[in-house]
Amino acid sequence: MVAVLLSGVTVWVLGQIWWSQHVIAPLTKCASVPENLRFDCYPERGTVVTKELCEKRGCCFVETDRASGNARGVPWCFYPQDFPSYTLGSLNETQLGTVGFLTRQTKTYYPRDIETLQLSVEFETDTRLHVKITDATSPRYEVPIEVPQVTKRAQNPVYTVELSKDPFGLIVKRRTSGAVLINTTVAPLFFADQFLQISTLLPSKFLYGLGEHQSNFLLDLDWNTLTFWARDIPPTESCNLYGVHPFYLVMEADGSSHGVFLLNSNAMEVALQPTPALTWRTIGGVLDFYIFLGPDPNLVVQQYQQVIGFPAMPPFWALGFHLCRWGYKTSNETWEIVKAMRNYQIPHDVQWNDIDYMDSYRDFTTDAKNFDTLPHLVEDLHKHGQRYVMILDPGISSTNPPGSYWPYDEGVKRGIFINTTQGKPLIGKVWPGLTAFPDFSSPNAHQWWLENLNRFHALVPFDGVWIDMNEPSDFMDGSQEGCPQGELDRPPYTPAVAGGSLSAKTICASARQSTSIHYNLHSLYGLMEAKATASALIKIRGKRPFVISRSTFPSQGRYSGHWLGDNRSTWKDMFWSIPGLLSFSLFGVPLIGADICGFSGSTSEELCVRWTQLGAFYPFARNHNTMNEKAQDPTAFSPAARTAMKEALETRYALLPFLYTLFHRAHLQGDTVARPLFFEFPKDGSTYSIDKQFLWGRGLLVTPVLDPGADAVVGYFPRGTWYDYYTGSLVNSSGENLKMAAPLDHVNIHLREGTILPTQKPADCTSVSRNNPLRLIAALSQNSNAWGDLYWDDGESLDTFEKGDYSYLVFNVTQNTFISTVLHSNMEATLITVEELTVYGVQDEPKAVTINGKEAPFSYSANQVLSVANLQLSLSHGFSIRWI
Ligand code: NOJ
Repeated sequence: MVAVLLSGVTVWVLGQIWWSQHVIAPLTKCASVPENLRFDCYPERGTVVTKELCEKRGCCFVETDRASGNARGVPWCFYPQDFPSYTLGSLNETQLGTVGFLTRQTKTYYPRDIETLQLSVEFETDTRLHVKITDATSPRYEVPIEVPQVTKRAQNPVYTVELSKDPFGLIVKRRTSGAVLINTTVAPLFFADQFLQISTLLPSKFLYGLGEHQSNFLLDLDWNTLTFWARDIPPTESCNLYGVHPFYLVMEADGSSHGVFLLNSNAMEVALQPTPALTWRTIGGVLDFYIFLGPDPNLVVQQYQQVIGFPAMPPFWALGFHLCRWGYKTSNETWEIVKAMRNYQIPHDVQWNDIDYMDSYRDFTTDAKNFDTLPHLVEDLHKHGQRYVMILDPGISSTNPPGSYWPYDEGVKRGIFINTTQGKPLIGKVWPGLTAFPDFSSPNAHQWWLENLNRFHALVPFDGVWIDMNEPSDFMDGSQEGCPQGELDRPPYTPAVAGGSLSAKTICASARQSTSIHYNLHSLYGLMEAKATASALIKIRGKRPFVISRSTFPSQGRYSGHWLGDNRSTWKDMFWSIPGLLSFSLFGVPLIGADICGFSGSTSEELCVRWTQLGAFYPFARNHNTMNEKAQDPTAFSPAARTAMKEALETRYALLPFLYTLFHRAHLQGDTVARPLFFEFPKDGSTYSIDKQFLWGRGLLVTPVLDPGADAVVGYFPRGTWYDYYTGSLVNSSGENLKMAAPLDHVNIHLREGTILPTQKPADCTSVSRNNPLRLIAALSQNSNAWGDLYWDDGESLDTFEKGDYSYLVFNVTQNTFISTVLHSNMEATLITVEELTVYGVQDEPKAVTINGKEAPFSYSANQVLSVANLQLSLSHGFSIRWI
């Protein structure tokens, strides 16, 4: 094999490197393909693949043990080694790397092969490679999200790129370990107008991401196909769900990690196989890959967010407890719950309404009879420092007497709705009956949405918006007229979407939007609506926007959070929420939660208590329930259950300064908030499949009870010292599973050695708690050090960090001294005092404690906990506390 070095890219003149190295046996062309290396040549659903159909495609047909042509297992119809692919011509150096042309001599079995492709390989940063393959002669649809424009080539990339010429293949290796991260030489490249496919080997089976799906956090590679197409459906395994995130992260053999993002919004599939290998299959756009080299998983996710954008900083109140349900029949009934929560002094920041508040389920209206007191309720919430959020659906009722419904009339006048191929607003059906759908890809629709929100805000001064049904959901498949029969609605290849067609429970793919066809923009609907909503909220309220969206796409975190949709009130669904949280952490949407106590079905008291204990650690904590089910807010249960829920929420409220600081770090640089254990312990393989526990940041471990009837819970504790959050009792783990008591009124949380948590005396609402004094908890490492930080601002002004209107403090413990250092200060910090310092793991009882050099009283307990209370130190000044 001859290697030619050209501008940092090695070119292999002979192709199919993997094959030439590994296939030794002189078997027949088909039988010689090892089962693991069979890449599916007939992925079409609903067709039982026969030898004849398969061979017509020029593929190999070998029956193995899988039950039928459609079941999971080794594909019966697969590509032979010499299946025609593209050939790479000569390469030219560019400012950032290399550009070359790929040509295909033989047509594939899909229409309109693109015969000449342009390949560009760009060394964007030392840890980011950008590889794009597109039509060399005419422009194709590309996803309209802003990505960084790089002008300078990376100087010391930690990766190498090799290209094989004939057939074309791409190999990316990590320079230090030599690990092969990408190797596309294993199967042919397809680039037809509506069928693009590329396969790669994976360096390990530890694969995560690829949402939105209901699955374990560690993905199953056993011939598992994941589908991507925004879809309204209660979370179901093996089903495309509300959002689309074509991003994966892999843990490599040495604990390094890399990530791959395919910037493509067309209906898509990813086929996983145990090789381990992965096949991307999309039906439009271009192949636009970003590869992130980490090397640790935290860095991979940060590097991903450098491309898609860092998440917005939420208002402080957004981190409080949210209460919602579908089926509050009146505003007074909603108000009663608010009062009951106050009466029991259960933390509650935000009250929500579902579609019940509307007049005939039409956006921007209220039910004049049943929700007549809504403005008073909102006023009362505000008086108590609480907030109000209501739902909006994108479907705009289209059947009102002319002149009676401004949103529709004005929308038609301004031409902001999505059109059919005939140029008329496409009419589907959602809650209000027949509806048109705003085209959020158009700036005019943003302006119209803003005006609607503004008019409604004048009546009901809401604080945030819940955008639901924005896949967009349509109860008719396509439209009231169905969909045209062309290749947009019935493409040559349809990924395995729920319902079997692109228009299943949504609008026609052929529908026209201002910037492209719905075929391309479908999965971006929720992103574009969130963008319009967040920007309208900024204009209307002049404060940080709060938006929660059901449908999401990469870069969503810039505009909204997400909840995991219509889960069920079951123990299994409670578990599913953890892989859901962790996946959205990878996707750059840290403001994430699931409906606490479950949405559909009937919860039980025990489940709801356990779920509230877990939900108290969702970055976004909302209890939401469907209609016609019995109430499941905390006040609906027995005093014991209510108290357990209240305590869990109070623990959350105590931890809000820490949580808020984590969100700041997410906003600043893309750190995760709810964090998988392996992010902190990437060398500990036992953490790779953990999705029943998670961390907040680097230092707080949550081990919830996920089973009925339990009074104990088993959790994994990576090697090191861990402290019980509540008592400071410590365990030294060698990296083992530990069993802990978990009575119904207790949720296990532990502090990792070396962590300092800023906490605050809880209250029923953050408007009160955020003025309360702080208690700092330091959990000493084995060599008696600890570190923590605090970001503090007024909790709701726009761009406080960017404008410098914040305080930032760093806490350190070294040599028996706790030091608070103010790195940046503003007014807000002067309003807060530090009341108490608690230090876990102080091995010897101190003889004295000094605060800024002056002796002070303290207490010390047998479990090695030192407490110094009544400090009354201003947060805005540095201080030191020393024990000797
Ligand atoms: C579907 C949403 O997922 C759910 O949360 C909501 O309650 C219903 N729509 C009714 O608006």
